[in-house]
Parts: sequence; structure tokens; C-alpha cells
Amino acid sequence: MAATEQGVEAVRKGEGEEEEEQVVNPWEVSAGKGGIDYDKLVDQFGCQRLDAALVDRVARLTGRQPHCFLRRGLFFAHRDFNDILDLYEKGEKFYLYTGRGPSSEALHLGHLVPFMFTKYLQEAFKVPLVIQLTDDEKFYWKDLTVEETKRLARENAKDIIACGFDVERTFIFSDFGYIGGAFYENMARVAKCVTKNKAVGIFGFSSEDHLGKYSFPPVQAVPSFPSSFPHLFAGQDQLRCLIPCAIDQDPYFRMTRDVAPRIGYQKPSLIESRFFPALQGENTKMSASDANSAIYVTDSAKEIKTKVNKYAFSGGQDSIELHRQLGANLDVDVPIKYLNFFLEDDDELEHIKKEYKEGRMLTGEVKQRLITVLSEMVARHQRARALVTEEMVDAFMAVRPLPNMFC
Ligand code: TRP
Repeated sequence: MAATEQGVEAVRKGEGEEEEEQVVNPWEVSAGKGGIDYDKLVDQFGCQRLDAALVDRVARLTGRQPHCFLRRGLFFAHRDFNDILDLYEKGEKFYLYTGRGPSSEALHLGHLVPFMFTKYLQEAFKVPLVIQLTDDEKFYWKDLTVEETKRLARENAKDIIACGFDVERTFIFSDFGYIGGAFYENMARVAKCVTKNKAVGIFGFSSEDHLGKYSFPPVQAVPSFPSSFPHLFAGQDQLRCLIPCAIDQDPYFRMTRDVAPRIGYQKPSLIESRFFPALQGENTKMSASDANSAIYVTDSAKEIKTKVNKYAFSGGQDSIELHRQLGANLDVDVPIKYLNFFLEDDDELEHIKKEYKEGRMLTGEVKQRLITVLSEMVARHQRARALVTEEMVDAFMAVRPLPNMFC
């Protein structure tokens, strides 16, 4: 079966195990006890693994150390990322596209991951970036009014801007605000190529779902095409696009890549991340609707401390004696997983892992280090966000040329 025709992704675990179903699609991420099986996901989605050779190549081409999300395999899969590097090596440029569905006011740490990584890519490659805020998507999927999704889009834009994007190279738009003209023409081109059966196959829509859901996938598809942004890329219809995202967004872009050549466009390339685990463990991603499953960018140092101490799932042993004897199980330990994302110092991370695994370091000590790392990061974000004014949001969202975007 072609990858594009696969239904809602339900991957059965190996035989002999209990029936545990892994479901990964843009609206649902859940796994059995063992956590998400990322290897299976790569095979089933038909994407490529991001190996060490590719990471080395990024280091060579950009002349800087790759982001720790790359070094540590947190961005672990891709589609045609090597093509992007090939043309970059020849002196050609590309553009970046990512996005956010504004469903809640407060972002959690997992939401920041793709934006932190995109900022690194923008800086390392010196390329323009478009950021889509899908207020329409959240209107269709959540119990929110149009007005509320528009308000949330603007609030979320402030958090995104606080990640440090360069206004000279970044265009942020909301669907309700921007769609029309060339963007809408591309939506129509895409929509005409995708039958209802195909949409059902890719996204799992049912006959009870309203037309809003069926109509949405072309909206997320067309920012992959430079001609959707005539103020940025006029006359550059074949400019290549690279999309950093979490792997749950893959179905949208399988559809996009399927359609692209049929309408005379380049397929977008993708670089895809794992999910940021919930405090309770690896079997799901952080959820914005369960306050105790996530650390929010609005949390105080005290809240972070309480949440980590109380809810972060530990791979340590039940008693100190046992822990000294057996050491921690790092595979299930949430503090270690979080440090793996956010503790930048490779040597310190390795040291902590070794000491903890061999029982010399206790859970409480690892958690203490994590609390410090997260509190600093969140405080830094809060300071940056407080400096984002309405005028700055307007500046990023203005439909305007970006004359120095490739410099
Ligand atoms: N659908 C995504 C969400 O719900 C938002 C989004 C739109 C996106 N375009 C994207 C995410 C491109 C990654 C890349 O969050």
C-alpha cells in the first residue's frame, strides 16, 4: 500500500506482546506501555532516518556545531533533507516553513521545541522563514469561536517571537488574516488533486465529520509552495522548502508531497522530531489540557519545582539502598529525558547519566539539576516575551518583502 493511502496510523506492536496500539496522527498521539516506537513509525510513514553522517554534513556546511536536538537524535527522521543540503552546498538557498495551531494561551515546553530548532536552522543557514498560525484549524477542531482563535494566534505569536526570530527574515501569518490571492489559488490546485477517499485514507476523517475538516489539509499544505507568498518569492516558483516539525504532522506533508509534482511544484523536504514526553512518561506527548502533565512557559520557578518533584516519572529505585545497588533505569526516566532536550553541555549530561545509571547519583539530585535548567530557561523566555510589543507582532505579521532574507 502506498504511504499516502495508509489510514489513521495504528501500528500494532510485535507479536506475543499484549495488544497495545500506537496511534500517531495530527490529532492523537498515544502509545502502549513501552512508549512510542519511533523505528516503526519511520517505517510505516515511509520517511528516512536522520543518521550521524547527515548530522556531520550539517556541521560541515554551516561551520558550526549542530544543535543539540540534532546531535542527540531528537530530530530523528526526514524526507529529502539531503536534497536541501546538496543544493545548499552548490550555493543555492531554500526557505523554512513551520507552524502552530493556536488552541491555548499558554505554550508548554514541548511547543517550544520546533521553534527553538527552527531558529537555529534560520541562523545557521541564513534563510527566510514563514510561520503559519492555523487559527482556522483550531476553530474546526476545538470548541472555540473564530474571535477566540484569532486572539490566541496573536498571543501565541508573541511566544514565538520571544524565541528570537529575526524580523528581517521571518513572516508570521494567521490563516484567517492572510488567506486569499495566490495562496488561495494554490489551495484550490491542491484540493482538486485529493479525492475524499484519499483524505479519509490519510487523515481518518469519517462521514460524520464536517466540511471544515475536509477542507483544511490544503491550507496546511500550500505554505510549502513559494508561490503562495508573492511578496516574498515572486519569480522563484521552484525555490525549495524545508519543514521542521514534530512527526505527528507528517500526514499533511505526505499529501503535499504527493500532490506537488502534479501541479508543477517542488516537493517540500521535512526534518521531523520526536515528541516531548509528558511528566508522567514517554507513552504520550505533553498535553496542553492536563496542567499536571506539562511545564508551561508561564510557570513560576516554584511551580516548576513542585511539578518536577511531584510528577516527573523516575527510573530510580524505591529505596536508597536498592538504588545504590541497581542504579536507575534511564530508558523510562523523565528527568533524564528532559535534560537530554535542554541541558546543552554534552559532558555534563554524560556525567549525570553515568552516575545516575550506576546508582551514585539519586533521583532527587537529578531532579534538582533539571529544576535549575528549566527554571532558567523559562525565566529567560518570560523576560523575552515581556519585551514583545503589539507593534512587534504587527511588524512580523505585515505582508511585506524581506529584502535581506538570504543574506
Ligand atoms: N497543525 C499544526 C498544529 O496543530 C500547525 C502547523 C501548521 C504546522 N503548519 C505547520 C506545524 C507546519 C508544523 C509545520 O500545531
